[in-house]
Amino acid sequence: MAREPDSSTRSTESGLTVEPVYGPEALAGWDPAERLGAPGAYPFTRGVYPTMYTGRPWTMRQYAGFGTAAESNARYRQLIAHGTMGLSVAFDLPTQMGHDSDTPLASGEVGKVGVAIDSVEDMRVLFDGIPLGEVSTSMTINAPAAPLLLLYELVAEEQGVPADRLTGTVQNDILKEYIARGTYIFPPQPSLRLVADMFRYCGEAMPRWNTISISGYHMAEAGASPVQEIAFTLADGIEYVRTAVAAGMDVDAFAPRLSFFFVARTTFLEEVAKFRAARRIWARVMREEFGARDPKSLMLRFHTQTAGVQLTAQQPELNLVRVAVQGLAAVLGGTQSLHTNAFDEAIALPTDKSARLALRTQQVLAHETDVTATVDPFAGSYAVESLTDAVEEAVLGLMARVADRGGAVAAIEDGFQKAEIERNAYRIAQETDSGERVVVGVNRYRLDEEEPYEPLRVDPAIEEQQVERLRRLRASRDAAAVRAALARLKKAAGGTDNVLPPMKTALRERATVGEVCGALREVWGTYAPRESF
Ligand code: 3HC
Repeated sequence: MAREPDSSTRSTESGLTVEPVYGPEALAGWDPAERLGAPGAYPFTRGVYPTMYTGRPWTMRQYAGFGTAAESNARYRQLIAHGTMGLSVAFDLPTQMGHDSDTPLASGEVGKVGVAIDSVEDMRVLFDGIPLGEVSTSMTINAPAAPLLLLYELVAEEQGVPADRLTGTVQNDILKEYIARGTYIFPPQPSLRLVADMFRYCGEAMPRWNTISISGYHMAEAGASPVQEIAFTLADGIEYVRTAVAAGMDVDAFAPRLSFFFVARTTFLEEVAKFRAARRIWARVMREEFGARDPKSLMLRFHTQTAGVQLTAQQPELNLVRVAVQGLAAVLGGTQSLHTNAFDEAIALPTDKSARLALRTQQVLAHETDVTATVDPFAGSYAVESLTDAVEEAVLGLMARVADRGGAVAAIEDGFQKAEIERNAYRIAQETDSGERVVVGVNRYRLDEEEPYEPLRVDPAIEEQQVERLRRLRASRDAAAVRAALARLKKAAGGTDNVLPPMKTALRERATVGEVCGALREVWGTYAPRESF
């Protein structure tokens, strides 16, 4: 049980109470077998695999992508040459919003925060020279996750790689887009239908593909505390599982391919506790609420990105230290895959050098420290086990408040999660402004004059290049075949058939991502949040 705060205690990032000294009484009556279990066994507190990093280190998976497909392809080849173990594609906003690069809405955003992908031709260039049967690729794409996944499958087919060999992940987590990130298109119900269609499609055609990356990262970046991050993310996960079960799928047919995505903050101990508590809660929810029996259905496997919001533009080299601490928290928390931010990302896109340094940070953690020599070294720690229990208790309380509102979607429509996160973001801002929360280089240990830094700039000519590529594509494809394929897609979207097979046919005919999403918009409409919550 969490202790009442007093003059000797301190409050954590989530507002929990931390003892100045934990002693044996902190774990009095505490049963390690019940609370922890063994690594790789229910309730997975200690990690999802029996051997964890002693068997295989986490996947070093650096999020990257900007400009044209050719420029991003060059960055991926560079990262592979520097030793990255998995790819992670960043798409530009027009792609994420299901708009082609030549639409007015795309103007000024083409290739800016990620790579512009309009068609199978761009996807082919993006992975040129990269054998898709040998890499694991994550794609940070949500509302248009289905067309981007199918473009990846089409390019793999062209490389002669069968779909059942493809490994990777699509983020495909539309609920957190309504809460925090904002790249949604359709209203919640058709969006959830599309997620369920993807679960079914991948279960049949791409059994090694992780169908969703249920994300807390963006809520954390919007100001969520560790407890809010885990509670709202797991509540979203419950909503997805309920949707797929309601669509007639057996829980063990899709749950093993669910995955998660969290942040790693500089508040190291609470982050380690947060990851351990999240695994234990999810394992229990999947077994007790959904009757999952396959051990893989109970395992919360997750990717971590170090906290972008904690990077500072002031004295940017300090971010190398923050990222190393955050990366270590993710590793000691048992992450399966990790992105370490580049030190200059608070200023601009990473340069080749800063991107390499970010990856090297992981390689130092993996090869120069001894953290891969044993599994879950914090097990049995008075402080971390007490904190894990306290985080678990607080997360369960907040999940119950979401459930009381009818679940994640109902709570989203009431603006509950958004309001709770904004309240916490405001608290953080007040503490930073008052100096109560120290941010080195920003509100303490400042420099009178910041040293100059030359950021990477994205060439504005990218937009014209991409628009010209689209013009040539439209001029050279069979327009009638595209129209017919889009009409079949719209028919499926208006009925109950899985929309991915007709969508794949349209994309193979070189329909664009914007045209595919446009066809779905015509049938499903677009989401407009209620004005005031
Ligand atoms: N013992 C036994 N088997 C092991 C093992 C061990 N110690 N370690 C790994 N393995 C096996 C696994 O079982 C797996 O085999 P399988 O695929 O047949 O099951 C294989 O080795 C690969 O291991 P993992 O699945 O653990 O690692 P991956 O890296 O392949 O997958 C993941 C990790 C979390 C499950 C996956 O979903 C993933 O890669 N997610 C990445 C998500 C991502 O990169 N997101 C970026 C978001 S950026 C963003 O949102 C925008 C920005 O604004 C932040």
